[in-house]
Amino acid sequence: MSGDSSGAMRRAAMYGVNDLSSMAIFSGNFINFGYWQHFTPGLISIDDRTESQANLYRTVLRRLEIDSTDVALEVGCGIAVGTALALQEFNPRAVYGLDLSQDQIDRATRINADLAAHQPDRFVLQQGSALELPYAGEKFDKCYSVEAAQHFEDLATFASEAHRVLRPAGRLAVTTFFTPDPSAIDELRQLIETIDSGVDVILAIGSFRDDLLEAGFVDVRVENLGEHVWRGFDAWIGQTEFRDGWGRNWLEAYHRGLIDYYLITADKK
Ligand SMILES: C[S@@+](CC[C@H](N)C(=O)[O-])C[C@H]1O[C@@H](n2cnc3c(N)ncnc32)[C@H](O)[C@@H]1O
Repeated sequence: MSGDSSGAMRRAAMYGVNDLSSMAIFSGNFINFGYWQHFTPGLISIDDRTESQANLYRTVLRRLEIDSTDVALEVGCGIAVGTALALQEFNPRAVYGLDLSQDQIDRATRINADLAAHQPDRFVLQQGSALELPYAGEKFDKCYSVEAAQHFEDLATFASEAHRVLRPAGRLAVTTFFTPDPSAIDELRQLIETIDSGVDVILAIGSFRDDLLEAGFVDVRVENLGEHVWRGFDAWIGQTEFRDGWGRNWLEAYHRGLIDYYLITADKK
């Protein structure tokens, strides 16, 4: 079965009562596929797996060239361990974490309670949608999103919202999976159930690039992270209870040229 409303309902449950972060495919309160700079086959420990997810954040945050005067926004922050990492390792003036799921924001608030208590002006969490960012215009210097945009459903609206809340000379960085080929969607649906059901809304990378340009961004750069993501993620999944199902089809889809993992950066004039 496919369809937007069933996808949205499943997402709400996944990030709500079902707490996807507690499943063995993720760890350390992160919920992303991970980044392996030099993947070598072998047993992956839980610490290694957690580090791979933190490294996906570090890869994105480096592209933002954050400085100590910047106010940054993370869209789709999940449990906000990546938002905390941004504050602690990249030292912006402040970082805001936004997520559609109130359950995720509640978890994020609990898990990052010390940081929020000690630096309440520098670490701010809020429920809200990527498609209607709950901020006045030109509030942020940097905006980023890690493995959440595959759920946003309307990337043209997200692009224009990100452009609206960024200050002039601000920068956006988004990482997640897209297809390189719009005609691959049907084949992807057959391989990956969460795409077929609409939990993951896969668009062509070229169409997101066009959305960013249309929104007014300049210097849109598309970087391919596939070699650093898919093999490590597949090896990890092979160690978990998900070894025979959904999780293993991503690497096959990548090898067949149907999907890839991208980091897109774009500047506001
Ligand atoms: C795969 S998780 C990634 C979480 C986090 N970025 C990480 O890497 O650990 C995707 C997150 O996006 C959030 N999300 C989905 N749709 C959203 C939307 N329209 N606006 C804001 N957040 C959204 C979900 O609630 C979920 O917490």
